[in-house]
Amino acid sequence: MKFFIDTAEIDEIRELAATGMVDGVTTNPSLIMKAGREILEVTREICAIVDGPVSAEVTATASEAMIAEGTKLAAIAPNIAVKVPMTWDGLKACKALTDAGHMVNVTLCFSANQALLAAKAGATFISPFIGRLDDIGLEGMELIADIRQIYDNYQFETQILAASIRTVNHVAVAAKIGADVATIPPAVVKKLADHPLTDKGLDAFLADWAKTGQKILG
Ligand code: G3P
Repeated sequence: MKFFIDTAEIDEIRELAATGMVDGVTTNPSLIMKAGREILEVTREICAIVDGPVSAEVTATASEAMIAEGTKLAAIAPNIAVKVPMTWDGLKACKALTDAGHMVNVTLCFSANQALLAAKAGATFISPFIGRLDDIGLEGMELIADIRQIYDNYQFETQILAASIRTVNHVAVAAKIGADVATIPPAVVKKLADHPLTDKGLDAFLADWAKTGQKILG
C-alpha cells in the first residue's frame, strides 16, 4: 500500500520524506488554510520534495471553472493530481482533465455509487472519507471494502485512496482490505512504528547487553 501524507506543512513533509515512507501528498483547502501558505507557492515546494502524486484541490464549483483551475494547478509540476469534488460538475471536470493527460483525484466520496461514477469518469484516485463516516455512526471501512469489490468486479484501474484517516487501526484495516493508498496525517504516520512491547523488549536487551561489558564497535 502506498502512503500519501495528508498535510500542506512543508517541514512535516520534509521530515517524513527522509524516512522513505512518502509516496505522495494530499492537500485540500482546509489544509492550505491551516498551513497559512499561498496555494501555488506551497504546492510547488511540495512537488520539489516529493516525486509521487501531489493532490491540489480546485475550489470552483462549476465544471468549466474547475477545468480552468485544474489546468493551472497541473501546470505547477508533472506530479500534480488535480483534486475535484464528487459532484456532477466534478465528474465532468474529471473526464476533461483526465482526457487532457492529467491525474485526477475525486474527493469527498461517501458512497459506493459515487466511487463507481468516479471510476467511469476515468479518475486516477477515488478518496473515500473513512473518519467522517465513522463520525456519523457509520462504518467507514465498509465503504472501502465495497469499493474494492466493485472495482475488482469490473477491473477499474482507479486507485482507492483511503482518506480521512484518524487512527493507526484505520491504516492496518485499509491495508487488509486492499486500499491502494492511504493518505495519513503526519501524527498518525509517526505512531505507526510504536508498540509498547517493542519499547519494553529493547529496554531489556540493552540492560542485558550492559551487563556483558561488551562493545560491537571498538
Ligand atoms: O484527505 C482528506 C482528509 O484530509 C479529510 O480528513 O480528518 O478532515 O476528515 P478529515
